[in-house]
Amino acid sequence: MNITPLSPVLGANVDGVDLATITVAEFETIYQAWLDHGVLRIRGQSLDDTQLERFSARFGPLEKIPVKLPEEKLRKMFDSLYVTPLSNIRKNGKPIGGLGNSEAKWHSDMTYEPTPPPASVLLSIEVPDEGGDTQFACQQAALASLPTELREQAERIEIKHDAAHTSIGQLRVGFEEVDSPRESPGAVHPAILRHPETGREGLYLGRREWAYVMGMEVDESEALLDELWRYAAIPENVWTQKWTVGDVLIWDNRRVLHRRDAFPDHLRRLMKRCQVLAREG
Ligand code: SIN
Repeated sequence: MNITPLSPVLGANVDGVDLATITVAEFETIYQAWLDHGVLRIRGQSLDDTQLERFSARFGPLEKIPVKLPEEKLRKMFDSLYVTPLSNIRKNGKPIGGLGNSEAKWHSDMTYEPTPPPASVLLSIEVPDEGGDTQFACQQAALASLPTELREQAERIEIKHDAAHTSIGQLRVGFEEVDSPRESPGAVHPAILRHPETGREGLYLGRREWAYVMGMEVDESEALLDELWRYAAIPENVWTQKWTVGDVLIWDNRRVLHRRDAFPDHLRRLMKRCQVLAREG
């Protein structure tokens, strides 16, 4: 297996491994490389949903497809209950997956939960010729770039991460709009996260929209968040994935933010995603 860094601050390309038949020793190497680099890219993979589920489950327990339907119905619709399609493709007028063709704003996955997923795994099945790139920003590098006074402020605050909206700004099923970020539902986390496995500290901002710095007036909270977000994705800390069919990306939500470019809706894009949940205890 060869592991080659993709940028000075984050990301590595892995080749010489078939994720469908990966051995225990190969997975240990992949896991360590994932901790070391924050994002891994493994090209040329041909995985059905069961194989993608099996590989992803090596990182930890998986989230069930987040569609509120009875399990029986989900089983008829999907080959795996743990592999979620993201797509703009429609079948019989209905979207076959989430997020459509819109831009997805900077975020880390599900930080509106008290214990967010450490890893996300994404496999490309169909990719457009134009747009749809996915970018990653290293939050350990972002923290290191903060001016001293701002870093000291970040050390003292906790941020509420909005649960009501998706990364494309849509209201989630079961939530209502609120008037102020102070009222938005979601989990509260310190603005700096010490990575539980590597011990390295990084900014932990979740997503900008509807975020709130606990205990502050809303104006004050907005101004401080704007200031922190100025450093969250400065170009030298960002790496861009240009997809080819059969790429698998694995990213560490405790270290990176990610976003996705919009793409023309007449072009097809289909991705399969597994969310790896934190292990209990
Ligand atoms: C996401 O997880 O935000 C979407 C990533 C992508 O579709 O490339």
